[in-house]
Amino acid sequence: MALQKIGVAGAGVMGRGTAQSLAAAGLEVVLLDARADVLDQAREEMREALRLTGLFKTGKNALEKEPDEILAAVVWTTRPEALAECDFVVENITEKEELKAALYPRLDEICRPETVFAANTSVISITRIASWTKRPDRVVGLHFMNPVPLKTTVEVIRGFHTSEETLQTAKDLLKLMKKKAVVVKDSPGFVSNRVLMLTVNEAVWLAADGVAEPFEVDRIFKSCFGHPMGPLETADLIGLDTILLSLEGLMKAFGDPKFRPCPLLRKMVDAGLLGRKSGRGFYDYQV
Ligand SMILES: NC(=O)c1ccc[n+]([C@@H]2O[C@H](COP(=O)([O-])OP(=O)(O)OC[C@H]3O[C@@H](n4cnc5c(N)ncnc54)[C@H](O)[C@@H]3O)[C@@H](O)[C@H]2O)c1
Repeated sequence: MALQKIGVAGAGVMGRGTAQSLAAAGLEVVLLDARADVLDQAREEMREALRLTGLFKTGKNALEKEPDEILAAVVWTTRPEALAECDFVVENITEKEELKAALYPRLDEICRPETVFAANTSVISITRIASWTKRPDRVVGLHFMNPVPLKTTVEVIRGFHTSEETLQTAKDLLKLMKKKAVVVKDSPGFVSNRVLMLTVNEAVWLAADGVAEPFEVDRIFKSCFGHPMGPLETADLIGLDTILLSLEGLMKAFGDPKFRPCPLLRKMVDAGLLGRKSGRGFYDYQV
């Protein structure tokens, strides 16, 4: 199947990283967000990220074009209709089921029947997402890791109806992006987030209970276990709002109280402490 024009829905943390990786791989990109200001912010952030990539990458990893040439392949839009001619759509909108459940039927009407939809959700079942379309065989999960341009491997989720051809198309796209695939079966949270969200939540409980300061919690994981980042730094990177929505999604999907979000997490989200993207979470950042 031809992969030339790729739609990216959502231009937040994940959508902009995905759009950047696709454009850097020489693909045409249509980047959709409900908010025009988010698209402006995404354009600036992607330009700066490409500029830095150009400074540091050499040899076979070097960028083939200047940042502005790469960004010229991106169409920025607030209109879902602009995705009509896309061969493949990666959906990265907010982790709220009601928002995704409203977008998929719209995309289903707008896009050609053969277009593949890839959900970059943290925890929502791909089989469930596929049920919001009339093309469940053409829906697959592509769980990109954050930051997308730097992460080499993607968790690929096969929904109940995902066809072999769709899976192959998803793998072909990842190959163009120079990324590897690990294919897993469908289950809420898949492999990665069923484990990670529990770990992050428990780390928040440790900080809330005063057992250790956030930096001490993270140091245990880095210095003792050799992890590159601790769970609270990871939470700040992902976005505390996305962590909260993911835990709520897992609790709803499994009906298991082990996923109950720590009240401190909810309090921080209510206070606007979302992590890196807001400038403050468990740590302070410059935005
Ligand atoms: N943050 C991570 O580390 C991470 C990693 C893997 C997967 N994910 C998943 O990727 C998705 C996006 O997460 P994020 O961190 O980029 O969130 P984010 O909050 O940074 O961005 C979400 C974007 O979606 C936009 N949006 C909401 N509804 C929309 C609609 N109907 N049409 C178009 N745009 C819409 C918002 O305006 C926002 O810009 C979520 O499903 C999340 O669970 C996140």
